[in-house]
Amino acid sequence: MIILGIESSCDETAAAVVKDGCCIRSTVVSSQVQVHHRYGGVVPELASRKHIEAIVPVVDEALAEARLQLADIEAIAVTRGPGLVGALLVGFSFAKSLAYALQIPWVGVNHLEGHIYSVFIEPDPPSFPYIALLVSGGHTSIYYVTDHTSAELMGQTRDDAAGEAFDKVAKMLDLGYPGGHIIDRLAADGDCKKIKFPRPYLDKSDFDFSFSGLKTAVLRYITNHPRAFKKQIPDIVAGFQEAVLDVLSYKAIRAAAETGCDRIALVGGVAANSRLREKLTTDAGLKGISVHIPSLPLCGDNAAMIAGVGYHYIKAGMQGEWGDDVFSRSK
Ligand code: KG4
Ligand code: ZN
Repeated sequence: MIILGIESSCDETAAAVVKDGCCIRSTVVSSQVQVHHRYGGVVPELASRKHIEAIVPVVDEALAEARLQLADIEAIAVTRGPGLVGALLVGFSFAKSLAYALQIPWVGVNHLEGHIYSVFIEPDPPSFPYIALLVSGGHTSIYYVTDHTSAELMGQTRDDAAGEAFDKVAKMLDLGYPGGHIIDRLAADGDCKKIKFPRPYLDKSDFDFSFSGLKTAVLRYITNHPRAFKKQIPDIVAGFQEAVLDVLSYKAIRAAAETGCDRIALVGGVAANSRLREKLTTDAGLKGISVHIPSLPLCGDNAAMIAGVGYHYIKAGMQGEWGDDVFSRSK
């Protein structure tokens, strides 16, 4: 089955053509980073307007890259939430209208299920059940995944998401937006042991996270060293990054041990972090746990992961209804 996936939950307009839930025929992502850069974060109203401009060319490009016509598409999968409502509505309304015009089935997909699924469009997917560590700009959660359409939430952040903490620390240090990949790069030249930051929630027996105190600790360090900090940026970001990654890695591995899973999927935008990829693979490997991580283009927001989940929903007989609406937060 050839599915057209559409994603517009935040600041990326994306479309992809995927065959049978796993074979990517094309994937196109139009990023709005340049638009939001100067504001240091995503401006929802601007995001919606940019999605409106981009949606038709992005879908056209995905079809052209797949060497297909609209008539070849058998179903449409589209992100329904969570995300920015105005942004989601652009992709969602477009997908519904296109499905209506083509008289083909369509289904709304949870963006987080999309990220969790992203390891299945790669060569070495985990078998069920597995633990998913989902780390993105809006979410930091651990799931126990038993099949393509069910994942049990074991724990999540109580305040900032990991990606949000990276972005906010980058903003404090005036490094640019989005901050994750900038910190990733700078931290490689720093010494993570020079400045010790707290490991939030490391001792707790649950699977929740909290990164806002860590962010405040970085701010306190900057305030207490108003002149010196500028020369210490690589060490500051390396120390901060290691604190975040220690907690993420520790909790994901403990979740695997507690559920008896020997597989972890690392997914979401922060899964692009080079140190996290290396650290989790090494730490988990020492316990006999394999780690499955998507290639870099499938870590960030994309529509191939949405088409992938959509395939399993449609195969299971689930379809969208015309009255369905988008949602901003996970229920
Ligand atoms: O999954 P995603 O593309 O969008 C959401 O659904 O939120 O994740 C975006 C987040 C941003 O916070 C960005 O700074 C972070 O992923 N990110 C990274 C890296 N690349 C992107 N964080 C750390 N290291 C990276 N290399
Ligand atoms: Zn995402």
